[in-house]
Amino acid sequence: MIGVFDSGHGGLTILQALQQRLPRQGFIYLGDHANAPYGQRSPDEIFALTQQSVATLFGLGCTLVILACNTAAAVALRRLQQEWLPQHFPHHRCLGVLVPMIEEIAHNPWHSVAGQSDWDRQPETLGVFATRATVASGAYVHEVMKRAPRLRVFQQACPDLAGLIEAGAEEDVLAPLVTRYVGELQAQLGDAVLDSVVLGCTHYPLVEHLFRAALPENTRLVSQPQRTAESLTAYLFRHPEMKRFGQLPAEIRAYTTGNAEEVTLLASRYFPRHLRFQQLPNHAHRMQHHA
Ligand code: DGL
Repeated sequence: MIGVFDSGHGGLTILQALQQRLPRQGFIYLGDHANAPYGQRSPDEIFALTQQSVATLFGLGCTLVILACNTAAAVALRRLQQEWLPQHFPHHRCLGVLVPMIEEIAHNPWHSVAGQSDWDRQPETLGVFATRATVASGAYVHEVMKRAPRLRVFQQACPDLAGLIEAGAEEDVLAPLVTRYVGELQAQLGDAVLDSVVLGCTHYPLVEHLFRAALPENTRLVSQPQRTAESLTAYLFRHPEMKRFGQLPAEIRAYTTGNAEEVTLLASRYFPRHLRFQQLPNHAHRMQHHA
C-alpha cells in the first residue's frame, strides 16, 4: 500500500488523481484532522506532526508515503529524508508534492488552455498561493531557483482559506476571500504579467474554479493532483519494488485523527468514491497552537 498524508481532507484531491492514474494500486489515506490546520503552526510542530503521521502510515504497512500536504512537504520533507528515514526506516521512502509542480513549469512545453493562442515564450512569472507556513519556508522559491532560475516567484499566503474549506464553508464566503488573495498577489506584480500559478495547498484545488474566475484569463494554472499522479507513476516505473498492483477496484483505506463520522460526511462532498474514515486510536494526541 502507498500512504497518502494530509493535514486534513485537502489531500483527497491528490488521492483522487493518484487513484485514477493507478487504479490497481492500493492506498491508505491519513488526515490529521485533530491537528489541522497546519498552515499556522511553527516549523517544529509541523515537523513533529508530519513525522508522527508518516510513522503511523509505515506502521499500517506502507513503505512509500506521499506527503500530499504542501505545508508538510515544504517544511518537513527534506529533514525527514535526510535525517529520519536513513536512521530509522532506511528502506522506506517519502515523496512530496512541490517538485512535480516545479518540474512541470520548468521543463515542459508551455500549453495554453483551449481556445486561446499559444504562448510563444517561456513563462517569466510564477504566482504561488499557499499557507503561511509554506510561504515562510521559502521551499517553492528555493526549488524554483534550483530548476528554473529565470522565473520570478511571487508568493501569496492565504491564511484563512484552508481552514474555511476544511470547515465546509460555502462559496459565498470563499469567493470574496479568493478574489482578495488574487488581488494581493497581483499588487505584488505591479505591471508584470502573471504567466503561471500554482495552487500550493491541497485544499485549494477544491475551489480551483474560484481562482480561475479571479485570475487573468491567460494565466496558466498548473494542476497539482495531476502532476503528482504523473510523477508517482514515473517513480513506480523506476522503483517497481514499491508498487503493489492488485485486483480492481483496488483497496483504499482512510483514517483520521479527528471525528471519523464528520470527516466521512465532509469527504463525500469532495471524493467520488465512498470512503468510510476510521478513527486512529493510537494517534489521538492533540497539539495546541503556539503560532
Ligand atoms: N493541506 C495543507 C497544504 O497543502 C494545508 C492545510 C493546513 O493548513 O493544514 O498546505
